[in-house]
Amino acid sequence: MATIKLTNVIKRFHDIETIHGVNLDLQDGEFVVFVGPSGCGKSTLLRLIAGLEDITDGKLEINGINMNSVAPADRGVAMVFQSYALYPHMTVEENMSFGLRMNGVAPEKIKAQVSDAANILQLNELLDRKPKQLSGGQRQRVAIGRAIVRQPEVFLFDEPLSNLDAELRVDMRIQIAQLHNKLKATMIYVTHDQVEAMTLADKIVVLRAGNVEQVGSPLELYHNPANEFVAGFIGSPKMNFLEGKVVSIDNKDIAVIEIANQTVELEVDCTKVSVNEKVKFGIRPEHVKENTQDADLTLSLDIDVAEHLGGLTYLYGQFEGNKLTIEVSGANLTRNGESVTVGIKKEDCYLFNSRGEALVNRPVPER
Ligand SMILES: Nc1ncnc2c1ncn2[C@@H]1O[C@H](COP(=O)(O)OP(=O)(O)OP(=O)(O)O)[C@@H](O)[C@H]1O
Ligand SMILES: [Mg+2]
Repeated sequence: MATIKLTNVIKRFHDIETIHGVNLDLQDGEFVVFVGPSGCGKSTLLRLIAGLEDITDGKLEINGINMNSVAPADRGVAMVFQSYALYPHMTVEENMSFGLRMNGVAPEKIKAQVSDAANILQLNELLDRKPKQLSGGQRQRVAIGRAIVRQPEVFLFDEPLSNLDAELRVDMRIQIAQLHNKLKATMIYVTHDQVEAMTLADKIVVLRAGNVEQVGSPLELYHNPANEFVAGFIGSPKMNFLEGKVVSIDNKDIAVIEIANQTVELEVDCTKVSVNEKVKFGIRPEHVKENTQDADLTLSLDIDVAEHLGGLTYLYGQFEGNKLTIEVSGANLTRNGESVTVGIKKEDCYLFNSRGEALVNRPVPER
């Protein structure tokens, strides 16, 4: 059982501040995913929670207890790294039991815990092997096993699957989801992979340059990004952005926007935008339709590259200097260099003011 709370956490490395006052409230048993561009501070935040780096300012609490000066081994936290970090001269069993042996845990207890972890991760047959006799996926399972045997309340994963090939990643992703279901521990997981973030997370934390941009469920972030950065970061292929301008504001929640020499009336939060303001119009590739009949905006696109994946087709095109990516069905056989006319519906549009703040509020589907 572990809740984690960060209050105004700041990290400076030699006077350079890299984490600028992060506040986070993570619930017991939650699967939390940190995403954000390279260098935004994901690993640093994990290391601060693990105790591998000191917090410069602010407070870290686990289960309501201040952890700022508690030693890493006493935090109830185990970390799994991208690089596995296994001892090459030890067998799988020895690697998994090493931490427990160092802590003087009784041999029978070690045996039972290693055997439990080996069962969960299907490592029983491999306990006598050395790391070099294992595949990448098996090594990563040993690294996870080493964390499990410590029975931590919090698991921290720093891009654990990024060294694996695509097929193994899918396999391991499902195993990690099952592991979370089984152990019900609080887990924080760093990844660059959109699918991992969307499928594993109860809660995604989007970071940018040492700040939290938005925290929410995967579907909240997809349907209701707080700003242009999150909108562009969550979703694959990423959201398209077109330049627009506010022509008029009719009442407190309807604005007329000019985009691509057309105008469209959108329901927006008019307190955050003014007439003549330059705005960014956002549309996800999957919401650009080949059917233009009921469209509120129609665009003619010159297709640079068409990618036919069988079930899906991605078209990368442009109109009047704007680049646009669209996702259509695999039945679309457009070729490079051809033109297509596509339609966009109002209810699929996003709009951001000149400061990048979201102006529309989209419903988040719920069961
Ligand atoms: N030990 C250190 N000394 C000085 N600066 C550091 C140190 N560790 C990290 N930083 C800086 O802190 C910032 C955040 O780094 P961090 O490793 O947390 O990024 P990240 O989000 O994990 O990136 P990536 O996706 O590339 O792994 C970077 O600007 C990095 O250069
Ligand atoms: Mg990192």
